[in-house]
Amino acid sequence: MPVIPKILVFAGSIRTGAFSGRTADVAQKALALEGAEVTRLSLADYPLPIMDEDLEKENGIPDNAMKLARQIAAHDAVLIASPEYNGSIPPLLKNTIDWVSRARHDNGRVLRPLAGKPAGLCSSSAGHFAGIRAANHLRAVLVRCQMEVVSPECSVPEGASAFDEAGNFRDGRLQKSMEVLCHTLTQAARQASMRIGA
Ligand SMILES: Cc1cc2nc3c(=O)[nH]c(=O)nc-3n(C[C@H](O)[C@H](O)[C@H](O)COP(=O)(O)O)c2cc1C
Repeated sequence: MPVIPKILVFAGSIRTGAFSGRTADVAQKALALEGAEVTRLSLADYPLPIMDEDLEKENGIPDNAMKLARQIAAHDAVLIASPEYNGSIPPLLKNTIDWVSRARHDNGRVLRPLAGKPAGLCSSSAGHFAGIRAANHLRAVLVRCQMEVVSPECSVPEGASAFDEAGNFRDGRLQKSMEVLCHTLTQAARQASMRIGA
C-alpha cells in the first residue's frame, strides 16, 4: 500500500483575496495531485496575542497556539505561503511561529511539533520580487525551529495579475516551480511518515 502523507497548508495573510492565500490554493491542488492528503487552515481561525513571556508565564500557551501545535504534530509536513512585509515575514506569521515554538508539552507528554518536520515555502507579493526576501527570512526562522525546509520554493511576483479566473497561475513556469516544490515536499513527508510509523 502506498503511503499517503498528510500535509498541512496555510497562508501568512488573512486578507480577503490575499495573494498568499491564492498561492496556498494552488499548492493545495498540486499537493493533492502528488497523492498527499491535504488539510488547509486559515490563521484567522487561530487568533493569538502578541508573544509576551509574561503572558506565557501567567497563563501558559494560548489554546489557539496549542491547537495549531497539535495540528502540525498530526501532519507529516507543512507548506506555508507567505507575503512579504518590509522585506521580511509578516507579523501574523512570525507571531504564530513564535507561539507554536513554545509548545513543548501537551497534557504531560512531550510535544515538539516543529522539530524534524519537513516544510515547504511559497512567497508572493504585489511587486516584481515575489516576496523572496520574506522566504529567505522564513527559511532561516524555520531552520532555527529545527524544521527540515526543502530546497525548492515557489515565489509569485505581481500577485494582482498572476492568477487566472480559475485561480491557476497564468505563467506555466510558475506552475512548474510549484509542482517541483510539491513533489519534493510530498516525498519528504512520505519519508517522515515512514519514520514515525517505524
Ligand atoms: C506593511 C506592509 C509592508 C509591505 N512590504 C512589502 C515588501 O517589502 N515587499 C513587497 O513586495 N511588497 C510589500 N508589501 C505589499 C504586499 O506585497 C501586498 O500588500 C500583498 O498583497 C500582501 O500579501 P497578501 O496579498 O498575501 O495579503 C507590503 C505591504 C504591507 C501592508
